[in-house]
Amino acid sequence: MNIDQMTSPETLRHMVLDLRQMQTFIEDPLVIEKSDGVWYEDVHGRRILDGLSGIFVVTVGHNNRRVIEAMKKQLDTMAFAPPLHATNPRAIELVEKLTTVTPEDLNIIKLLSGGSEATEAAMKLARQYHKQTGNPNKYKVIARYQGYHGATMGALSATGTRRRKTMFEPVLPGFMHVHPPLCYHCPYEKSYPDCDVFCARTIEHLIESEGAETIAALILEPIGNTGGVITPPPEYLPKVRDICSRHNILLIFDEIITGFGRTGQMFAAHTFETTPDIMCMGKGMSSGYIPLAGIAFRESIGEAFFGRDEDEVEFSHGHTYGGNPVAAAAGLACLSEILERDLCGRAREMGAYLREHLETLKGLGIVGEIRGKGLLVGIEFKDPETGTSFDPDVKFGTQVGKTALKKGLLTRFDPHWIAFAPPLIITKEEIDLMMAIFLDSVTEVLKNVKG
Ligand SMILES: Cc1ncc(COP(=O)(O)O)c(C=O)c1O
Repeated sequence: MNIDQMTSPETLRHMVLDLRQMQTFIEDPLVIEKSDGVWYEDVHGRRILDGLSGIFVVTVGHNNRRVIEAMKKQLDTMAFAPPLHATNPRAIELVEKLTTVTPEDLNIIKLLSGGSEATEAAMKLARQYHKQTGNPNKYKVIARYQGYHGATMGALSATGTRRRKTMFEPVLPGFMHVHPPLCYHCPYEKSYPDCDVFCARTIEHLIESEGAETIAALILEPIGNTGGVITPPPEYLPKVRDICSRHNILLIFDEIITGFGRTGQMFAAHTFETTPDIMCMGKGMSSGYIPLAGIAFRESIGEAFFGRDEDEVEFSHGHTYGGNPVAAAAGLACLSEILERDLCGRAREMGAYLREHLETLKGLGIVGEIRGKGLLVGIEFKDPETGTSFDPDVKFGTQVGKTALKKGLLTRFDPHWIAFAPPLIITKEEIDLMMAIFLDSVTEVLKNVKG
């Protein structure tokens, strides 16, 4: 197919992209063909700096030869093994290597293929665990507003982002939501630190009102993405951990974005010094070379599922591509890259450098707050005239993000904020370039908005 055919509305109208209005998309489609390092190239040869690792995925960078060669070697040996009857050498090696990097005793691992599979599996594991340990009435799940845990029905029920779920309601019963620690727009109209993290304490109020004996799990992203890189104050997660432990509620960290070095440590659990009971992994686990995800959980939970056939306590869950040998080979190579090249340290160093750049934008009066950890950094905009958020109708962040994309920079954007999460291999020079395009875009949009 030639480029004209490929980018024509007649061809593209047959496709449905994620969360996109296709009529708008086909008017000015982006068709990406190649990638290398931190760069994409579209079918017209236009280069785009990947300031988002695709979508928080390509941790070790594009066109990583070690990962590609590992996958090729495995493809030449065996592409698929029957998950109902057997495992395979690469899956065994990956699980073993993962146990060396997961926090504390999160040493029991189920390999899966996508983030939604991982959050579904985590919540199902929590329910079955309680059934098998004498608490059959513990089935409810607490999650957070503005959280995102995936597109499938269970994951969506835990999701607290209205625009992604209202058109599918009613979703599943038994899911409740609390507000996340978004201090910049505190829904309780309190201010940190005088609030004594009321948003964490209020979870206990919910548990007491519902009855702890009915609640199986609490799921959250250590740093919330869809709400605008919501980064908790240091005492928030330890407090949530304590509440869950006291009420025998399993704490699930959705580390699908934050895992594998993104926050400057292997997992955000390390960054915030808080260990969940179950951890969901995806995205950076294979750096996007092939679908790969998983859950890691405590050995004590694993014991409840370990018995003889006649005990019927095995985890009653599985997916065809879980533990796929080619995916496992990619996962192993990615993890080796992260460890041997100290990409966690690099995320810390380059993240600090990126923040320095963003701090200089304060002179423009548009920086409300800079949030995040490592190479997951968000900037919340404010209107320089009012000192508060821009009128939502202005969609300032969206305008900046779209302008930046036209100028050759990919970011994650929303009416009020923009997030950066480039591959962890990014250099200072590439960050300089990224920030130059960003500044140019901010200046242009500001001029249009303010005249
Ligand atoms: C925090 C989080 N959890 C879960 C998911 C779902 O992952 P997937 O799209 O691979 O199903 C995503 C996807 O963006 C995510 O960001």
